[in-house]
Amino acid sequence: MSVQVAPSLLAADYAHLAGEVRRIEDAGAAVLHLDIMDGHFVPNLSFGADLVAALRPLTKMLFDVHLMVTAPENYLQKFAAAGADEITVHLEAAPRLDDLLAQIAALKIKRGVSLKPDTPVEKIRPHLDRLDLVLLMSVYPGAGGQSFMPEALDRLRECRQLIGQRPVVLSIDGGVRLDNAPAIREAGATRLVSGTTIFHAPNPQSAVAQLKG
Ligand code: DX5
Ligand code: ZN
Repeated sequence: MSVQVAPSLLAADYAHLAGEVRRIEDAGAAVLHLDIMDGHFVPNLSFGADLVAALRPLTKMLFDVHLMVTAPENYLQKFAAAGADEITVHLEAAPRLDDLLAQIAALKIKRGVSLKPDTPVEKIRPHLDRLDLVLLMSVYPGAGGQSFMPEALDRLRECRQLIGQRPVVLSIDGGVRLDNAPAIREAGATRLVSGTTIFHAPNPQSAVAQLKG
């Protein structure tokens, strides 16, 4: 699997969102990461399905929706209708994860699960055959611009082992920078989510290319 780069819209200039989406698509990104925060699962608010729907006609990028929300089952339909290609829910917010994954699949959308830095990677093991994506957080979710937690590299390696030969995307989110990207790819990540490093780069095209390696 070649490495994908997924810019996180959280770091975009909110006064010019349409232009920002075109700018990072032109920079070579094929996936747009959309961080949805409810002020409850994480202590911050971001944006909702209406904004995602408004952006959908502007771009061909794949929409990778990261739901940092309590009761994600209440939002699946809305984000599917808004044009999500993939929906990732937090394992910590999903006491019946397999039901949720089945609901996502029924919407003809790819299924992801995300883990906060403190949640054992091992917990994904029983679900691996029903997953398209695993998203490991390398910061505590809730804000962009934080520092990468180095222990995430061991967690990536462990996750890579668990995934084995399955066609599951292994994504990493938080504090991805040009200098730690080689180690992150080496540890087995196949998707690098990055807000600050791409949106604040003087040359986003070069940032995307360097993150891909
Ligand atoms: C954190 C979000 C991340 C974040 C990444 O809660 O899930 O996607 O925007 O931002 P950077 O790359 O700035 O750490
Ligand atoms: Zn995210």
